[in-house]
Amino acid sequence: MVALATEYVIDVHHWNDTLFSFRTTRDPGFRFDSGHFVMLGLEVDGKPLLRAYSIASASYEEHLEFVSIKVAGGPLTSRLQHLKPGDPIIVSRKPTGTLVLNDLRPGKHLYLLGTGTGLAPFLSIVRDPETYQRFDRVVLAHGVRRTSDLVYAQYIEQTLPQHEYVGELVREKLVYYPSVTREPFRHRGRLTDAIVDGRLCEHAGLPPMHPGTDRVMLCGSPAMLDDACALLDGRGFRASPRTREPGDYVIERAFVER
Ligand code: A2P
Repeated sequence: MVALATEYVIDVHHWNDTLFSFRTTRDPGFRFDSGHFVMLGLEVDGKPLLRAYSIASASYEEHLEFVSIKVAGGPLTSRLQHLKPGDPIIVSRKPTGTLVLNDLRPGKHLYLLGTGTGLAPFLSIVRDPETYQRFDRVVLAHGVRRTSDLVYAQYIEQTLPQHEYVGELVREKLVYYPSVTREPFRHRGRLTDAIVDGRLCEHAGLPPMHPGTDRVMLCGSPAMLDDACALLDGRGFRASPRTREPGDYVIERAFVER
């Protein structure tokens, strides 16, 4: 049985017709590592209806933050999208997950590659000072279909560099690469293609990706993960979950079937 707690919604932000994010209260005793997820949901017909959600907030913040899609007819998200400040929400007490810094071998450059809501765990990781202690350069790439799906773009580009704890580190080390596949945008195409043709590394001012120096975290759809893993494996990167010891890259599915 998963131990559950009740938290309360602080605020909700609707980004477009399919994406929203929300913040909740946080039990001061609740601890997690940047990149972790929890089971989250609502009580429906007297029972908890829960899905996995990556925690987007930093581990030192007083609230919890989550990013969600809205699935028409989705058992949970069709309800969750109507959340209002003050509403109760169920959060499991045991955060877990594979997108953690400790599962990566030491390296120089960290690539965070997320598609869709796969950005969420990386929002926590780029707000963690330890990320910048471990890596000289951190590349946050977000691949989406439409420009309006580039959630947090303004936050990453304008607010985060002024952040009270990590702003200076962000200005020095973080590179953001937003990419859109189905609309005109300054960066077009899939993240995997941007790796293959060298655009991503070029944008970051880095040499082509290599397991000797580079570490990668992947969070996206099963298809994105398959393609990105094949690409990295082909370049000699070793995944961590398979070896059960720190590796060159770690992966997690962006949780979307709601
Ligand atoms: P595309 O528009 O070419 O399908 P989704 O919302 O389906 O998860 O997609 C989010 C982003 O991930 C989209 O830009 C989508 O591109 C891209 N994507 C989908 N499949 C893959 C894949 N196999 N490799 C890399 N990116 C992918």
